[in-house]
Amino acid sequence: MTTGDWNDGWERLMARYQPGREQAIERMIDLIAARCDGPAPRVLDVGGGTGTLCSRLLARIPEAEVTLVDLDPVMLAIAGAALPSSVSAVRADLRDPGWTGLLPHSGYDAVVAIMALHYLPPDRLTALYAELAGLVRAGGFVANVDDMPEEGAVPSGSDDGSWEVWWDQVAADPVLGPAVVERARLFGDSTSAEWHPPAAWHLRALKAGPVDEPAVAWRNGAQAAVVAFTPR
Ligand SMILES: C[S@@+](CC[C@H](N)C(=O)[O-])C[C@H]1O[C@@H](n2cnc3c(N)ncnc32)[C@H](O)[C@@H]1O
Repeated sequence: MTTGDWNDGWERLMARYQPGREQAIERMIDLIAARCDGPAPRVLDVGGGTGTLCSRLLARIPEAEVTLVDLDPVMLAIAGAALPSSVSAVRADLRDPGWTGLLPHSGYDAVVAIMALHYLPPDRLTALYAELAGLVRAGGFVANVDDMPEEGAVPSGSDDGSWEVWWDQVAADPVLGPAVVERARLFGDSTSAEWHPPAAWHLRALKAGPVDEPAVAWRNGAQAAVVAFTPR
């Protein structure tokens, strides 16, 4: 299979788990375009996976300076083959507080996570939010788009086995198969331990960092985006 095939398959898979994905990505890019001062916003995509946000952002704002962080060697292999060389793809573990030391820049206009932070336990995610805010220039923002159901509701998504089927296909691929073995070593069990607190939890956690009042920027069923701007 080609990189394009893997990317298409990933998007079909993510669309099952993230209703309104296209709209969510477009809204993130709208926010980046609206809030960033110059023509070349510097953007960090944490848990950026195969690079969907990065490539959509570059299609709309070709001057954007983009960094993608991920730990998964499969995701990074697909992203590396699909994204232009101007994108800095960084292999780093968001569970490790030292991860920011691997970044090519110390400051960003926007730091965005899409469906990427639900593998982290509460204490680590709270600390990570503060780390993300610390990377943002004055007046920029941190945003997280994920399943954040209303209190008591169940997360959206599908457990029809599509996730396992896609990963079985990757494991059987002669090029990407070895990276699946490496992925299991790097992540251990943590990719199966998902945690979906309500948006109110995320707002409280963000507020512990160096940001102005965080807010829910939009909601689509269980999906929501929380956004926090840094003081000007
Ligand atoms: C469901 S995928 C979403 C990827 C991408 N944001 C998208 O929307 O297509 C979650 C991503 O988070 C990454 N991730 C999970 N835990 C991580 C960690 N501890 N460090 C770095 N990346 C991590 C995974 O490797 C994966 O690429």
